[in-house]
Amino acid sequence: MWDIIRCICDYNPRLTLTLDLTPPLPSVPGVLSRWAAEPIRHVFLPASTFIANAKGYPVLPKGSQTFIREIMKHRPIVILSGAADGLHSRGGEAAYLQYVRHLEKTSPSVMQMKTAGTVENFAQGYQDYLQAPLQPLMDNLGSITYQTFEQDPVKYERYETAVTAALKDWPVSERIVIVVAGAGRGPLVARCLAAIERSEKEAFVYAVEKNPNAYVTLQGRKAQEWGDKVELLFGDMRTVQLPEKADIVVSELLGSFGDNELSPECLDGAMRFLKPNGISIPASYSAYLAPLSSSKLYNEVRAGKDELKACETPYVVMFQAVNILSDDGGLENGRCGPQVQECWDFEHPRREAVLDEQGLPPTNTHNTRSAKLTFHIPHAGVLHGLAGYFEAILYNDIGLSIHPLRKDRISKDMLSWFPLFFPLKACAFICSWKMYRLCLTMS
Ligand SMILES: C[S@@+](CC[C@H](N)C(=O)[O-])C[C@H]1O[C@@H](n2cnc3c(N)ncnc32)[C@H](O)[C@@H]1O
Repeated sequence: MWDIIRCICDYNPRLTLTLDLTPPLPSVPGVLSRWAAEPIRHVFLPASTFIANAKGYPVLPKGSQTFIREIMKHRPIVILSGAADGLHSRGGEAAYLQYVRHLEKTSPSVMQMKTAGTVENFAQGYQDYLQAPLQPLMDNLGSITYQTFEQDPVKYERYETAVTAALKDWPVSERIVIVVAGAGRGPLVARCLAAIERSEKEAFVYAVEKNPNAYVTLQGRKAQEWGDKVELLFGDMRTVQLPEKADIVVSELLGSFGDNELSPECLDGAMRFLKPNGISIPASYSAYLAPLSSSKLYNEVRAGKDELKACETPYVVMFQAVNILSDDGGLENGRCGPQVQECWDFEHPRREAVLDEQGLPPTNTHNTRSAKLTFHIPHAGVLHGLAGYFEAILYNDIGLSIHPLRKDRISKDMLSWFPLFFPLKACAFICSWKMYRLCLTMS
């Protein structure tokens, strides 16, 4: 019914939803999550929905408690009715309101938003806000962008741990050469120096950067902090000449979908100065997708000046009012993959790469990828686009991840990347218990 109404209203952004919680909620897990993707503005909660606890105070059944805690992230206005009718023996009229406030305070998403250091706290105000992905190869990033990156303690800690582990594994006798490819304002250079100290190995760092503004900061840091432990090289890593070959190339050129900021293309060039047994940190990265429902994001995209163009662009988004339509477990003897599926991956250095006399690949066809994915859709919903994520292996089991089900295990509270949203030009209704097949190519 709701879908019919909003389609008749052509997804008018002024159309909002009031959920009436008078009838008992369905107990099947997942059925209610579709409402997370809708513009909930009000929740109607009559006193008759409450049950009495052992002491006679009004409380909600378990399922309703969980659902209300979940939707509190939308900050709905809760309309209580019949609170003065004396349906419950203890607590009076105020008990209903106190109970709803308690649910809000104990809502996991509200608590996350209030906890310093979490992504939810860091991203307040950015939820469901469409941002154009960065193009650090084409554009020279501004100082404010670097400053935002540098606020992420998790990403740099992961890198330092990875470089330390790689150095510890290196044969003792050798002087190790590290190249930071795309050094920005130097946070990875500083972490490499810290890793050298931690590992007690002898190593030297080159820092390559093509952005003249960031390079000025690097020059300042070399003069004041690093001295002769670091040599700076200005230029594009695909063409710059290095005085010696490197054992370890450290880079951070990743986008929310892994390769979407041209990391593979840049690192193809940087692999020229890696020794044959040298390693890259990251060693590999993979892109992941899941079908997504969000009338909020669908509307935001359509509100763009050129609607057609706006629909053909991916956006970096801190998801909030979204619902992933797929789930694990599949139809027809497991023909469907997991809820969030891997599309493709890239590894560095490429083994068996065909290279020209300068050590560069003659074409870029090796970076073309395609994938065929099949998702299981357990509950009916409207498909508005795809959610994109990445996961990277830095070194051995040390990684970075924004995969929704694995990020907390691999790089909890990492702030640097929000997921990518690929909008669809036309949304599509998918019935319950269906398969959704997706074929995509990246060239
Ligand atoms: C995402 S930023 C990361 C900066 C820094 N390493 C950090 O972690 O804060 C990527 C950096 O790589 C630089 N970069 C991108 N492509 C490059 C290329 N082809 N050659 C040299 N630097 C490049 C950009 O200018 C930018 O400073």
